[in-house]
Amino acid sequence: MQHRSGATIWFTGLSGAGKSTIARAVESLVDCPAEVLDGDELRATISSELGFSAEDRDRHVLRVGYIAELLARNGIVALVPVIAPYARARDRVRRRHADRGSTYLEVHVATPLTVCARRDPKGLYGKASRGELRGLTGVDDPYEPPTAPDLRLDTTVMDVPTAADQVVRLLAEHGLLR
Ligand SMILES: Nc1ncnc2c1ncn2[C@@H]1O[C@H](COP(=O)(O)OP(=O)(O)OP(=O)(O)O)[C@@H](O)[C@H]1O
Ligand SMILES: [Mg+2]
Repeated sequence: MQHRSGATIWFTGLSGAGKSTIARAVESLVDCPAEVLDGDELRATISSELGFSAEDRDRHVLRVGYIAELLARNGIVALVPVIAPYARARDRVRRRHADRGSTYLEVHVATPLTVCARRDPKGLYGKASRGELRGLTGVDDPYEPPTAPDLRLDTTVMDVPTAADQVVRLLAEHGLLR
């Protein structure tokens, strides 16, 4: 049987940082089996009953991490653009992968809040500033930046193709593109 090496590539960062955009760009560049597990889609499906309390955010991250690990263990590159604001939940996902011998790589899409708020692709920052939305990550809800990500991308100074290319290089460095 052909050897397939899967992995989870987790894109963490603020809303509007570019996680989904970059994950989709990576998906279109690689020719290995890859699947995007997008936070928005998963919140509308497997986590539709969850809100945005710290507990619910962690529950969501653990669920997505569980699915990503299954894919990774079965030879698929799981590209996961999910904010995952708390280090403890990201660490639990990382440990789950390590315990099962699956590769977990963390990409911090470290676009600063000011840039995310200026882009505001979903209008969330505007709503927060008008007092119509509470608990927005990085505004009035915590975001714990990863201290040692495998890759850090600040899309203020980097276009989408360049950012995606850096992720592809990371995959290649880890022997995931054979
Ligand atoms: N270099 C870049 N990399 C990524 N996105 C960029 C870049 N420059 C501009 N953008 C724009 O920034 C926006 C990023 O939105 P995107 O939905 O990818 O963010 P996200 O991190 O997935 O947010 P959320 O957590 O809300 O899903 C898009 O409108 C994208 O076109
Ligand atoms: Mg997104």
